[in-house]
Amino acid sequence: LKGKLVLLLGKRNYLVSVDKKEFHTQYGVIDLTKLKKKKPGSKVKTHSGEEFVIVEPTFVDILMKKTKRLPQIITPIDASLILAHTGVSIKALIVDAGAGSGFLAMFLAHYCNKGKVVTYEKNLKFAEAVKNNIKLVGLKNIVLKQKNVLNGISERNIDLVTLDMIDAERVVEIVYKKLNPGGWIVVYSPYIEQVKKVVQEFEAFDFTNIKTVENINRYWQVSGYTRPKTSGVMHTGFLTFARKK
Ligand SMILES: C[S@@+](CC[C@H](N)C(=O)[O-])C[C@H]1O[C@@H](n2cnc3c(N)ncnc32)[C@H](O)[C@@H]1O
Repeated sequence: LKGKLVLLLGKRNYLVSVDKKEFHTQYGVIDLTKLKKKKPGSKVKTHSGEEFVIVEPTFVDILMKKTKRLPQIITPIDASLILAHTGVSIKALIVDAGAGSGFLAMFLAHYCNKGKVVTYEKNLKFAEAVKNNIKLVGLKNIVLKQKNVLNGISERNIDLVTLDMIDAERVVEIVYKKLNPGGWIVVYSPYIEQVKKVVQEFEAFDFTNIKTVENINRYWQVSGYTRPKTSGVMHTGFLTFARKK
């Protein structure tokens, strides 16, 4: 396990580097120097006796626990809906804007790992953070362009465009000619007012298969009395899909 990240699975999960000395949890301190000799599936205890199992982290574990978030992210739960609705090829060329914290771009790049994601971000500080996040996650198939997407894009024969930014409706015209026939455009909008503007633009460009989806996940407590949980995120955003004829 040397030089690696491992996930400690227990009452809470912790992503730790086996190269560090120790890790403080709410259940006590874990001596990380012991981890180097351990195999996945073996156990480690905090100084106060709480047990954790050592496992290999998944891509989502690393994405959610290792990277830095600046603007509001698109979570894997919403991002997965883009894969489900578009059925985009693993070899796809994807253009994304704005990169923000790079979460959606990284998610798509991981699953479309024989393809490429080009993500545009106009803000220099965010662009630097995205570069760093890409490095932390270790993805090789993302290109970050620190540019304003409203000034145009250079990619062509695009399979999927994803937009999570103010004025997304203004990007529809910019990407229209660059999309492959059958290619998808997906806009993530926190507010329904933006959805309306986006749909109007999709109709103006004669896109087909236009649909807006709200991804509602209701978590349940299944212990003692069983019912939907009464706290948690109730609304993230709307996803509006359309396909070029
Ligand atoms: C909500 S964040 C995107 C979050 C991202 N989807 C993620 O999952 O991490 C919106 C981003 O769009 C960027 N942005 C807004 N207008 C833009 C434009 N015209 N060109 C490029 N980036 C833009 C903002 O700077 C901001 O970082």
